[in-house]
Amino acid sequence: MDVSNFGSDVKVAVIPAAGFGTRLLPATKVISKELFPIYNRPAIHITVSECVKAGIKEIILVLSRRKMDILRYFEKDNELESFLEEKGKKNLLAPLEIFKDVKIDYVIQEKQNGLGDAVLCAREKVGQRNFAVLLPDDIYILSDGRPTISILIEKFLELRQKGEINPKVVLLLRNVPKEKVKNYGVVYIKKRMGNFLIVGGVVEKPEPELAPSRFAIVGRYVFSPEIFDWIQKEKPDEKGEIQLAGAIGNCSYSDTVVGVSVKGKWLDIGSPEGYVKANMFFAKNKRFLY
Ligand code: G1P
Repeated sequence: MDVSNFGSDVKVAVIPAAGFGTRLLPATKVISKELFPIYNRPAIHITVSECVKAGIKEIILVLSRRKMDILRYFEKDNELESFLEEKGKKNLLAPLEIFKDVKIDYVIQEKQNGLGDAVLCAREKVGQRNFAVLLPDDIYILSDGRPTISILIEKFLELRQKGEINPKVVLLLRNVPKEKVKNYGVVYIKKRMGNFLIVGGVVEKPEPELAPSRFAIVGRYVFSPEIFDWIQKEKPDEKGEIQLAGAIGNCSYSDTVVGVSVKGKWLDIGSPEGYVKANMFFAKNKRFLY
């Protein structure tokens, strides 16, 4: 199946990658978790490839100064290339060709002030464009090989074209067991419209008894640029962090936020167990590595 260029009208994606990777310490003390190999690709390769397959042309990585090593993966390496050329092994770098027409840009988040703040750092570069956000800790695989973010882009554009509802946010939701809701942003479902779930509030990491539903936010979103205003209005939580979930929740009270739930394999590579599971999954299912 040709999985190129789905949903090609959202052209820019923001990938927050500035966190300390505390769940993977001490391994993340020196190496960014986004560079940890998933089978034989750094994790960030998988996230950026998903974007490219969905027709995105520009990536804005949100980094901290200590995580600039991530950029090197996308830079040309003349010395390595001529070495491989001489040995007749240039094909070893073929998986990198997917990035040849994508612009990899970055912004620095000076302090780890939460996911909302990280996304806000990209405001100037995004400008007035609709944009995607992908959290690289989450890998979400669809059985037909389509890049997950393209489903959200399609729904975002389809709903806007129909004009009936004009979502400011489309996000990926997944039903999780009650005891897991405390790990995620969890939405209140106001209404169901066919395959769409209209969101009427979000609680970040609720205790199970306070969760508004069991629909957790997976780290895939499409936003219209108005979300930046909602983030800017968001007050820091008790840890002093600006949460993206809070901004989406407030947006959902006066604008339309749509949840989409699609079946898929969800891997959380930000924890040691999840990281190992993801490696086992890709070792058995290499066709999903692109
Ligand atoms: C973040 C978001 C949360 C979302 C989750 C998905 O949390 O804040 O709303 O459900 O990603 O993985 P984190 O995993 O960074 O704590």
